[in-house]
Amino acid sequence: MLELLFQEPGLVEYPLPERLSQHYGGGLGFQEPLWYANFVSSLDGVVSVPGRAHVGSLLSAHSQADRFSMALLRACADAVVVGAGTLRDSPGTLWTAERAYPSLASEFQELRRRLARSPQPQLVVVTRSGELDPTHPALQEGVLVVAPDAKVGQLKDRLGPSTSWLGYPGPQVDWAWLARQLLARGLRAVLTEAGPTTMGRLLELGLVDELFLTLAPTVAGTPVGYQRSGFAGGVDLLGKGDARAHLLATRRAGDHLLLRYRLDTAAK
Ligand SMILES: NC(=O)c1ccc[n+]([C@@H]2O[C@H](COP(=O)([O-])OP(=O)(O)OC[C@H]3O[C@@H](n4cnc5c(N)ncnc54)[C@H](OP(=O)(O)O)[C@@H]3O)[C@@H](O)[C@H]2O)c1
Repeated sequence: MLELLFQEPGLVEYPLPERLSQHYGGGLGFQEPLWYANFVSSLDGVVSVPGRAHVGSLLSAHSQADRFSMALLRACADAVVVGAGTLRDSPGTLWTAERAYPSLASEFQELRRRLARSPQPQLVVVTRSGELDPTHPALQEGVLVVAPDAKVGQLKDRLGPSTSWLGYPGPQVDWAWLARQLLARGLRAVLTEAGPTTMGRLLELGLVDELFLTLAPTVAGTPVGYQRSGFAGGVDLLGKGDARAHLLATRRAGDHLLLRYRLDTAAK
C-alpha cells in the first residue's frame, strides 16, 4: 500500500508481522524512550479546524494509507496522549489501532504481543477546564485523566470507575513533569495525537523526538475569522535557536506523502 521512497539507514526495526511490513513498505521501530507525534496536514499546512468534528479524515481526503499509518503508530505505542480539545472534536473516536484500520486488527494485536505491550495503549487525556463529556466512548475504557488537583474531585463523580487520575497543582500541566510521570509508569513509547495547542508547547520544550506527517493532496484555505492552524499552535519558534527537523523516511501512497522526521526544535 505504501511505497518506500527513502529511508535513513540504521533505524531500529520492531518485529512487525509480515502483512504490516508489506502494507507499510518496510520496517518501523523506535529508540525508546521517546515521544512521537502524528499529524495529517493539507498542502497549505492546515491541521486543525476547531469545532469541526473528524477534521483529520477531511484533510486526508479519507486516505486509507493515512489510516493505516495512524493505526501502526498506535500499535507501537505504550500510551497515546490527547488534549481535551482533540477529544471534544473527535466524538466516538477510540485511539486504538483497530479503530483506525479494522481489517488488520489481529496483526496489530500480534505486534503488541511481540513488543510485550498491553493489548491497548494507555489513553492519556490532558485538561485544564475539566470539560470532558462522560459519555465519550474513549472515557469508558480505562483512560488516564490529567487534570488540576482542584478539579479531580468533581471529575471523579462524573467519570466511571475504570478512570485513573494524575492531578497537578498549578493552573496548567508541566509537560516535562508529565513525561517523567508516564515514564515512571513504564510508558516508554508515547504517541501524541494531541492538537496544535499541545504540540506547540511540546515543540517549544523539545519534548517530541519524532514527527510523522502525512501531507495530503488537499488545500484547506484559511477563511477570514476562522482559526485554522498548522501543527505548532500558540508558539513562535521561527528563528529561535536551532529549530531542526531531520528527514528519516519518505513514503508515498498515490498523491499522499508520508514523512517521518527526527526533531530538534526546542527554542534555546
Ligand atoms: N490533523 C491532525 O492530524 C490533527 C491531530 C490532532 C488534532 N487535530 C485537530 O486539532 C483540533 C484541536 O486542537 P487543540 O489545539 O484544541 O487540541 P489539543 O491540544 O489536543 O487540546 C487542547 C486542550 O488540551 C488541554 N491542554 C493543553 N495544554 C494543557 C496544559 N498545559 N495543561 C492542561 N491542559 C492543557 C486544554 O484542555 P481544556 O480546554 O479542557 O482545558 C486545551 O484546551 C481539533 O480540530 C482536532 O481535530 C488534528
